[in-house]
Amino acid sequence: MKVLLTGGAGYIGSHCAVALIAAEHQVVCFDNLSNSRPQAIERVESITGTRIPLVVGDVRDREAVHRALTDHAIEAVVHFAGLKAVGESAEKPMLYYDNNVRGTLALVEAMAECGVRRLVFSSSATVYGQPQYLPLDEAHPTSATNPYGRTKLMIEEMLGDIAAADPGWRIGVLRYFNPVGAHDSALIGEDPNGVPNNLMPFISRVAAGRLPELSVFGDDYDTADGTGVRDYVHIVDLAEGHVAALAALTTIDRPLSIWNLGTGQGYSVLDMIRSFERVNAVSIPYRIAPRRAGDVATCYASPAKARDELGWQASRGLDAMCASAWRFERMLATRNSG
Ligand code: NAD
Ligand code: UFG
Repeated sequence: MKVLLTGGAGYIGSHCAVALIAAEHQVVCFDNLSNSRPQAIERVESITGTRIPLVVGDVRDREAVHRALTDHAIEAVVHFAGLKAVGESAEKPMLYYDNNVRGTLALVEAMAECGVRRLVFSSSATVYGQPQYLPLDEAHPTSATNPYGRTKLMIEEMLGDIAAADPGWRIGVLRYFNPVGAHDSALIGEDPNGVPNNLMPFISRVAAGRLPELSVFGDDYDTADGTGVRDYVHIVDLAEGHVAALAALTTIDRPLSIWNLGTGQGYSVLDMIRSFERVNAVSIPYRIAPRRAGDVATCYASPAKARDELGWQASRGLDAMCASAWRFERMLATRNSG
């Protein structure tokens, strides 16, 4: 299939490009490069040995999306493009609604104009809000605790309305848990601008000596060791989940489907620190800090629906996540010193 990846130069998009090409899809990336660099696409080209057209454009620009869809005879879209920093979303809510909600609206308008009605959307486990039971399955009630989460929820609801109005759509909503790690080549990975918000890139930078120590946000949660528990999923597994979702959209006779992409296994912050230290033979200095506002104690997926309907299951464990994240961090150090 010819697939347009909005946000294709980003962390998840670049890994998905590799997985889609391995599954013999043709990939075109569409990205405004607001949080990525074109070099990411070049690296995907060198991993896959395939040329990947990059359209530099904004999803809010409906005409530009329309042109990309028709110029490249696109048959399906995987929509990663979005802003994702929870703290920033509280400071700049208009930016988040504009970029994420209006961006998605412009995208689906352009798709409808072009008769492209196959869409995979990057949602998030954040839409489950405060867990009422665990593991979180797709029927768990949804809510939002910050503007970023609310954009994901609003987009999910908008896509639901679109699918109800026109059952010709095939929309797959993927609710990611916590994607971490990097491709085996270490050519692509997660390299956030500024100080990382997320745990794994923060740990990598502490290990590399780029940051002095990790703050563990709270050790008094109702969890085994008191620190927050999350469902970390290897980025390459997550990418393969998109290939499976895209395939399912051609076989499942339902206009909209929602699937969790997680492992079903929760690890605490201290588990993550210890695994990273052991696997990579490094030391991660840390101190216990106050809880971070808005964090939940425990969050992990029921991966059963994705397993049953997509035939997808994560296969890479925590050691592989930690090892690949560190390989990528060391590669960045070489790149920056070279
Ligand atoms: P990322 O920032 O690395 O990638 C997003 C890409 O989209 C970037 O390349 C950016 O330049 C591009 N982009 C942003 N706004 C755009 C616009 N208006 N037009 C065109 N391009 C635009 O982030 P990521 O981690 O790869 O996340 C991809 C998607 O997955 C996002 O929608 C994010 O909300 C969602 N998600 C991510 C996580 C996570 O932990 N990484 C968890 C759940 C959901
Ligand atoms: N944590 C620390 N110190 C840090 C960073 C994080 O102790 O410096 C802790 C957090 O308190 C939490 C755990 O590590 O217990 C994971 O935190 P992350 O920020 O890595 O991930 P979150 O689960 O908070 O959120 C992530 C994405 C959201 C997404 C959510 C669910 O950032 O966008 O997963 O998919 F919505």
